[in-house]
Amino acid sequence: MKIALIGTGYVGLVTGTCLANIGHDIICVDHAEEKVEALNSGKIPIFEPGLAEIVQSAKSSGKLVFTTDLAEAVRSVDLIFIAVGTPQASDGRSDLSQIEAAAKQIAKAANGDKTVVVKSTVPVGTCRRVGRILAKHGNDHDFQITSNPEFLREGNAVADFMKPDRIVIGTQSSCAADKMRAIYQYFDDKDVPVIMTSLETSELIKYSANAFLAAKVAFINEMANLCDATGANVEDLSLGIGLDERIGKAFLKPGPGYGGSCFPKDTLALTILAQEADSPSRIIESVVDSNSNHIRRLGRKIADFCAESWNVDPKLPLIDKRIAILGLAFKANTDDIRSAASTVIAPLLIKQGANVIGFDPEAAEAARNVIDHIETTTDLDEALTGADAVLVLTEWDEIRAIDWAEKKKLLASPVVVDLRNLYDTKEMARLGMQYSSLGRPAETL
Ligand code: UDX
Repeated sequence: MKIALIGTGYVGLVTGTCLANIGHDIICVDHAEEKVEALNSGKIPIFEPGLAEIVQSAKSSGKLVFTTDLAEAVRSVDLIFIAVGTPQASDGRSDLSQIEAAAKQIAKAANGDKTVVVKSTVPVGTCRRVGRILAKHGNDHDFQITSNPEFLREGNAVADFMKPDRIVIGTQSSCAADKMRAIYQYFDDKDVPVIMTSLETSELIKYSANAFLAAKVAFINEMANLCDATGANVEDLSLGIGLDERIGKAFLKPGPGYGGSCFPKDTLALTILAQEADSPSRIIESVVDSNSNHIRRLGRKIADFCAESWNVDPKLPLIDKRIAILGLAFKANTDDIRSAASTVIAPLLIKQGANVIGFDPEAAEAARNVIDHIETTTDLDEALTGADAVLVLTEWDEIRAIDWAEKKKLLASPVVVDLRNLYDTKEMARLGMQYSSLGRPAETL
């Protein structure tokens, strides 16, 4: 099928490219000329494993083209995906201005009836609102509005698209439903459940999925803190509860709090939506609070552990100390620093007088642009050299694989605070490291 897709961010670019990869003819539209030029000349503006290769092959086979000309793209297809950003507005709601602008442009450009599919994450009611915009500006053409949320994890997005757990389609039009089934026909023999539902349910499935996963992360972080307080071990605890199939093992790894472009924004937007619907969600409100308290609490934990390890005044422990942060992206395998722990914790350390150098293989430049007074590098040894303490924030393989017997020699002081539980506590103790992690009792030799 010939399809236009508006927006070439993380979601749009992966979706468009993967749709081309499963046989469709895709016109990706973005208003940013430099981005379209870069994509046309073979440069990928984001880091996403496996994406560059399939963009290249889809382009070479003529199945994927990039353009800034939205009107021309709309006129040449009868189905259009909207995958523009819905960032958090200053009041915590989702900013829908890009969605509304896209809907208006589609309506004005339309030369006949069109199916318009909202891929962006949007609050319940948005698809109907998009429908009204299309009707108002669309010269009496018929627009079949459809919701089709994405469930792509950054860093794993191509694999997630190609092996989905489920496909969710919300529409009240049987004609749109048939077109959507045809788009995803590739998965028919792969046992992928397709959930056909209403617009509202489809919109809410996306928010509920993210909120539930965020709750799991917040829950295990609270349990890790409780383990620290009681001497229990969170790794055994995760396994002990996760093996219960009703709970499941995934998403039970403690960390520096959930970040990224989805969970923080979507959980907050869901609480507002629920309040406005006079059906407040106390659970999700607590998840939001729990996650922000967790990050702040970790700021104190880092300073306290450093003061104790260096045996310095616990009131002002960080002044003029060099702290190496390993990992600036919100998780491994992405260059995305939106709501990353580094963007909260690095400023806290800097404010307390520390000199912070951040290492990240992909996100160093992005972090330098948003965190004041941070030095960044893509060279691990440069970050470690002369560090009074090391703080691990992202679970990159390169960070996980550090040989501390070797790297210890570079440090001014062998202090490691690991907020991803990447290293073996016994081994770190054996190497003479002063090592703190989350919810795991410290080893003494
Ligand atoms: C998420 C959803 O998983 C995806 O389905 C949706 O489409 C977009 O939002 P993403 O934001 O890419 O994807 O990241 P994800 O892998 O879900 O992790 C979110 C956050 O939770 C990260 O900060 C991650 O480090 C944290 N996390 C996740 C944990 O701290 N522990 C875990 O066990 C799992």
